[in-house]
Parts: sequence; structure tokens; C-alpha cells
Amino acid sequence: MNRSELETTAKAMVAKGKGILAADESSGTIKKRFDSIRLESTEEARRTYRELLFTTPGAAEYISGVILYDETLRQKTKDGTPFADYLKKLGIVPGIKVDAGAKALPGFPNETITEGLDGLRERLAEYYKLGARFAKWRAVIDIGDGIPSQFAIDANAHALARYAGLCQEANIVPIVEPEVLMDGAHSIERCEEVTSNTLAAVFEQLNAHRIYLEGMILKPNMVISGKKNTNRANAQQVAEATVRTLKRYVPSAVPGIAFLSGGQSAAEASEHLSLMNKLGPLPWALTFSYGRALQDEALKAWGGKAEGFAAGQKAFARRARLNGLAQTGSYTAKQEQDAA
Ligand code: 13P
Repeated sequence: MNRSELETTAKAMVAKGKGILAADESSGTIKKRFDSIRLESTEEARRTYRELLFTTPGAAEYISGVILYDETLRQKTKDGTPFADYLKKLGIVPGIKVDAGAKALPGFPNETITEGLDGLRERLAEYYKLGARFAKWRAVIDIGDGIPSQFAIDANAHALARYAGLCQEANIVPIVEPEVLMDGAHSIERCEEVTSNTLAAVFEQLNAHRIYLEGMILKPNMVISGKKNTNRANAQQVAEATVRTLKRYVPSAVPGIAFLSGGQSAAEASEHLSLMNKLGPLPWALTFSYGRALQDEALKAWGGKAEGFAAGQKAFARRARLNGLAQTGSYTAKQEQDAA
């Protein structure tokens, strides 16, 4: 393990005014996204869409890193430059999703365990050669009747720490992502309780596994009401509850926290991040690692058509810039309208 390389990479991923683009949708997930614009998910369509995002003029000003999927890490721009090399030249760190997805946890109905540890050491060595300098592993914790169980939280925390150890051995910065879903009707208080238990278990396991905290990034959910809750907490409440929870459970040795968007609208995700950064000074950098909240507008503007390419890039550049502003606490709802 080269600690200074890990630290340098982690710091670059959470550089001021920048954040991470999660473009690591698995084949199943990207098909769902393309279905929404009635586009068939062929390998060439996926390549073209990723090229649209990565070659957006000006995006590198706000994007520090991109999470890729295995297929994308092996693809090239239309003039033949491997995506990883292209991003690196722009000063953007290429990363790779390495988990194999959340699968049913036997004996625990409606709960999952993320798989993908077998053969991971060898895969990471190959990914490093292909240019990846960070990785992502997503654990999924669902809130519902009688769930999550402490067992499922602990099993997922253990797998996250096993993954993080293998990454650091390979000089790849692990993004540790324990996602508490916002799909239910639960209150923000219930989300805070489950997120607290989850983060406590994750850092207990990270420490037990001797993870070098200075060489990792945490990717958590925000503390937020369930989508189906009829009396949802407002943006300021989300910002305060999230920062309070993170301060309790995330050691200051961790250089950065990069949120997932989890089903929030693009504007909500920008506003929440900005309000949190206004609550500073904070012990870690707080930034974005959004998938849907960065891409939804671009995907729609593109519409899968060659004539929509420039409009797709424009939409992506705009949202990347707004989130870059949110990273320094200087995004406002007014800019949302101005930039429209
Ligand atoms: P969303 O921002 O769409 O939740 O995706 C982020 C991600 O990478 C989930 O693993």
C-alpha cells in the first residue's frame, strides 16, 4: 500500500469546487435510463452517451473524477482514445465500479448483501493497469417494516471493509458507499437513526480491517424523509440533520464525503449540498458523486439523437457547474433560474 499515492488521489477527488460524476450504471440500470428516452441499449449507444458526458466542454472545471462501468473502462472515444486516457488528460481521475450488485440475503427477507469479493484482488490489479485510480462498492440498506436488521447492516459493513482493504492494497482509493434508500414513507428521524447505525457499523469494520482512513472517500445518502412521506422535511432540515449525523460518525481523518443523489431531483440535490457547505467549517470536504441528479437533464436533452448531442452537453455542463457552486456553498435557487 502506497499511502501517499492514496492520499493524493483522494484529495484530488474532493478538490474545491469539484465533485464526481457517477456514470457507472450497470447494463441493467443503463437500459432502464435509456428506456425513459425510448432508446435501445446497444453497446454503441452506451459508448456514444458516455462520450457525450466525458467530452462536454468545460466539464473538467467542476468534475474531479468519473466512476465507470467495466464495459466503459474498455471503450474509446470515436477517434480512438481510451476513455480513461481521455479523462486523465483533462485532469479527471478515472474510477471503476467493482461490486457485483446487491443480492438477496438468505434468511433475511427483503434485505440484501452486496456481492463481488471473489477474484476482486485480480480484477483490481487489471483495473489499475487500465488507468482506474479509485473504485466504488455500493451496499444497500432499505427501511421498511422491521428492517433493516442489525445483522444485514453488519454483514454489509463487513463486505465494504473487505473491499476497501483490497482496494488500498492495490493503491486504488475505495469509495465506501453504504446507501440507506429514500424509497419508503419513513420520516427524516427514522432515516437519521438508520443512517447513524449504518455509519457506526461501517467505521467499526473499517477500523477493524485496518483501513487507512486518509486514503478513502465515504459516499453516503443524505439524511432525508422517505419519498412517499406526506410531510417531508425541508431543505434546511435535511442539511442540518445530515451534517449532524456525519459529524457524529465520520472521523475527521477521512478527507472527503461525496453524496449519492438517490432519487432526489437535480435541483434538490444541488440545494442540499450547498446548504450543508454553508454550515461549515467542516472537518472533511463535502461534495457530490451524483448519478441521476447530474445526468437526468442531459439524458433528456440528448434524447438518444445525434441532433441532441450539443443540447445534452449543454445540460450536463450547466448541472455540473451548479453542483460545483454547491460544493462551495454558493449555489442559490436564483442561479437555478438564471442558468436555465
Ligand atoms: P445516484 O446519484 O443516481 O443515486 O447514483 C449514485 C451512485 O453511484 C449510486 O451507486
